[in-house]
Amino acid sequence: MNKKIQIILLAIALLTACDDNRRINREDYESGRRDREVRKVNEAEVTQKAFEMGDEISTAAQQELMATLTKVIEESGVAGAVEFCNLEALPLLESVGQKYNAKIRRVSNRYRNPNDRPDQDEEMLLSAYEYNVDNDIKSEPNIQKIENDQVLLYTKAITIPSQLCLNCHGDPESDIAPDVLAKINQLYPQDKATGHTEGDLRGMWSIRLPKKEVIKNL
Ligand code: HEC
Repeated sequence: MNKKIQIILLAIALLTACDDNRRINREDYESGRRDREVRKVNEAEVTQKAFEMGDEISTAAQQELMATLTKVIEESGVAGAVEFCNLEALPLLESVGQKYNAKIRRVSNRYRNPNDRPDQDEEMLLSAYEYNVDNDIKSEPNIQKIENDQVLLYTKAITIPSQLCLNCHGDPESDIAPDVLAKINQLYPQDKATGHTEGDLRGMWSIRLPKKEVIKNL
């Protein structure tokens, strides 16, 4: 299949994935109860739980990043905060994911840190979120089963919510101060993460939840 068509199909799937999954889950759950098919009930419950855990982890990580960012900007200015993000963004995400043994990433095709490039599992999903944003379609979080169904990959779009982000991701001429731009260019010579405006897609959350861990939390 042509890649563009694949992306469009996936975008459509993403659009409805959340509601459908939740609806199917309920149907599965009820028919499972009727039929006493324990396995089916569990599969539906596992997906449902993975959505809940993904929502919880991404919200906690977002809050943690925002709180830390605001505090560091107050204490050491925006350029100082660039340095802080360079050193601390990853460890901070790792510590939020640790509670559930989850691997948590923020990925982007317009990445600042080259480590945030999407991998094979993430690439198509990110393209679908990009397609949706380009076409004014609202995206919902998504769950894909990967690695022989042993890992549930939760993804969710990250958009630019406020002016705060533009201090480091906005127009290099008008939004980003010269000392901040110099710091960004020094630490990230291949930076692609500027030129954004409010509401833009900045990337996506990618949270790998081991199935074992999801079941443990049921
Ligand atoms: C003080 C400057 C600064 C501000 C303000 C800022 N960021 Fe960033 N952002 C960075 C830096 C530096 C990185 C690279 C972090 C790393 O090396 O792990 C980054 C990375 C990211 C990434 C990971 C993908 C990539 O490009 O590597 C996302 C997503 C992101 N920022 C979103 C946001 C959002 C949304 C906001 C507003 C809530 C925001 N940022 C505000 C400096 C900033």
